[in-house]
Amino acid sequence: MGSYINLVFLLATFSAVHSYIEYDAWINVELHHALDSDDPDIFKYRANITIPSLNSGLSNVVQEDLSNEDVEKIKSLAVKNGFYRMKAIVEYPNGVKRTFSTANKACSILSAQLNDELWIAIDGSGFVNAITLSTSGVDINECSLFDFSLSTRQYNTEVLIKHTELAPVADTASFIQKIEREREARERGEVKDNRGFFAKYWIYIVPVVILLFVSGAANPDQQK
Ligand SMILES: *[C@@H]1O[C@H](CO)[C@@H](O)[C@H](O)[C@H]1NC(C)=O
Repeated sequence: MGSYINLVFLLATFSAVHSYIEYDAWINVELHHALDSDDPDIFKYRANITIPSLNSGLSNVVQEDLSNEDVEKIKSLAVKNGFYRMKAIVEYPNGVKRTFSTANKACSILSAQLNDELWIAIDGSGFVNAITLSTSGVDINECSLFDFSLSTRQYNTEVLIKHTELAPVADTASFIQKIEREREARERGEVKDNRGFFAKYWIYIVPVVILLFVSGAANPDQQK
């Protein structure tokens, strides 16, 4: 009984950790942002994020404060209803780098007072699928109606790791085909159960034998 409970516990633990990656790893993400609407290809260093363990999801974020000049640039992007664009360069332990990009309305960044969330989606092998910058600020349709005053020069970024769930795929079609083939074969009389008596009925015999043993062991006096 004890080992049965252990097995159930083991299976439950396995299914609970299954949505995480098997071999944990660290990644480093460097953020660069484009603030200049006149020079949209210039990306400026913004932050360095270290994630020591993808499974634990804890991160260490080191960010640059915005200069007054940067704030003016974001405001002018917002006035034009433009996008605040960001490049995220992911570095893996083997030194390989991959670049992702994400964008958000400049006025959303301002209305959220530089509070933002960086979503990092990873697949089952620990590789990044996508990086998305979102804000939980007020959803503004018309940026020009907004007052763009900022009370801070400091980003406050929450880093969220999203593990991709790999759901088991049921192969229903081939299972139904198999059942159909077996049924047709039975109807044609092709399937003959030509196993021996014990091979056919062991599932009935074995419990009876065990039961006899158990009751014999429980009442040794009766056999004397
Ligand atoms: C970012 O952090 C990593 C790990 O701490 C470090 O190796 C890297 O040089 C840093 N990059 C920058 C631009 O500061």
